[in-house]
Amino acid sequence: APPAMDRLREELAGAREDIARGHPQAVERQHSLGKRTARERLDLLLDEGSFLEIEMFRRHRAQGLGMERQRPHTDGVVAGSGTIDGRRVFVYAQDFTVFGGSLGEAHAQKIHKVMDLALSSGSPFIGLNDSGGARIQEGVLSLNGYGGIFQRNVQASGVIPQIAVVLGPCAGGAAYSTALADFTFMVRDTAQLYLTGPDVVEAVTGERITHAELGGAQVHATRSGLATFVHDDEESCLAAVRDLVAMLPGNNLSRPPALPARGAAGDARPRLAEIVPVEPNKPYDMRLVLAELVDDGDFLELHQSWAPNVICALARIDGQVVGVVGNQPTVLAGVLDVSAAEKAARFVRFCDAFSIPLVTLVDVPGFLPGKEQEHAGVIRHGAKLLYAYCEATVPRIQVILRKAYGGAYIVMDSRSIGTDLSLAWPTNEIAVMGAEGAVNIIHRKELAAAADPAARRAELLEQYTRELVHPAYTAERGLVDAVIDPVETRSAVARGLAMLRDKRKHVAPRKHGNLPL
Ligand code: COA
Repeated sequence: APPAMDRLREELAGAREDIARGHPQAVERQHSLGKRTARERLDLLLDEGSFLEIEMFRRHRAQGLGMERQRPHTDGVVAGSGTIDGRRVFVYAQDFTVFGGSLGEAHAQKIHKVMDLALSSGSPFIGLNDSGGARIQEGVLSLNGYGGIFQRNVQASGVIPQIAVVLGPCAGGAAYSTALADFTFMVRDTAQLYLTGPDVVEAVTGERITHAELGGAQVHATRSGLATFVHDDEESCLAAVRDLVAMLPGNNLSRPPALPARGAAGDARPRLAEIVPVEPNKPYDMRLVLAELVDDGDFLELHQSWAPNVICALARIDGQVVGVVGNQPTVLAGVLDVSAAEKAARFVRFCDAFSIPLVTLVDVPGFLPGKEQEHAGVIRHGAKLLYAYCEATVPRIQVILRKAYGGAYIVMDSRSIGTDLSLAWPTNEIAVMGAEGAVNIIHRKELAAAADPAARRAELLEQYTRELVHPAYTAERGLVDAVIDPVETRSAVARGLAMLRDKRKHVAPRKHGNLPL
């Protein structure tokens, strides 16, 4: 090449290296905070050598407050596209070493560009957040930049999977992007998510509180329900993002990636007959049941520590991705409550949007009774789950293991709200309520007048159980399609999924429903 070209190439290589290296002191500080740099994170997230960066040379054009003299390249965010296990994703990683990762106009426009590319290419969008929030010096242009992100988050919702990863502070308006995403990851100890930081909280309310107490990973994993997954460090967090992406379709028009079938239709699971006690009130861990049903006993549980009375998990059955919703008898006897309904509703809607069949494992005594729940709006929130199931057009299989009482029976994907295949174990007890409560109500007068109330109650209980909750009661009425041997559950579900593979359901055109938010 002519010397002039060689010189230009050298200069370009030098400039790119300088930008990628960053400011050594700032990088050192980032490391000292137990955090990796934006580029180190992208190296962990993406397949080696796959990253295609856009707008590396971008810089802001802000005026005033000394900004003209400080115009670092990238403007504090590394953006572009790469692959995860060979599948395309679009990504940005905020760079805390530049303006504290704060979001100004140019920074925001870079994020807008990758979001637009993700949507038009039909590929998952992943945001790695580590930022002081809206760049104060750029005023309303920063806020405008956030609005543009949220607007795109919403346009992309249900079209491409969106994943928010919080690896440092994520404050103020920025936090909304994590709530709009389908999945939010947080790293313990370093991630913080809140609308107003501890200083503002103290100024306004007088309350002194630490960053972690206000919006650390533990808080969002157990209390607010904002964090879907929490990890101890960035390595395991970003590895988990890769694992999640491997189970998701690129967009709402493609199917989730399948693995080869493995003969699940002929698989007997003798352990299933042992895990679940016959007595309806004896607890057992539904996760053990789940592990028997899915390939390799492997499942990815969402919101493990929030509303643990319901389990939501992604897994594979015979190589096909499924979403499993299950009552968890070890927590609050597996009742549904406000949080459980919200958790499961959002999961059902995600699965429905992205062509992931639903398997619902039912063992539910009802909704949690009491003033606290009623006043907190358990009807309104329970209606979300009801709505989500009623609306879902993906293949749906209900498995009733033991009890399914009252409204909770209806909500947990019953035949009446559109399940495609309802399977029940011989231990099923499907009724308006359990025998004790039922007998007390329908025989109150008789029991009050009985010479020996205890003996009479025992007779009436026996009669109720014999006549109304025997294993075939619901099957005789066609509301259960098959009463199955527990050990056949994996094979029956696998056959059902195969049967429903090409299910199509069209709904009347409308602008959108009015989900009870
Ligand atoms: N706008 C502009 N610059 C910002 C910023 C913002 N929102 N947030 C942080 N920065 C800058 C800091 O001025 C600092 O710059 P310097 O290195 O040139 O001094 C750099 O980013 C690092 O911030 P620092 O405060 O030193 O880091 P920290 O780890 O001690 O604290 C935060 C991090 C996020 C808690 C703290 O920076 C903060 O409270 N920022 C403001 C958060 C906020 O309320 N934003 C508005 C939300 S809409």
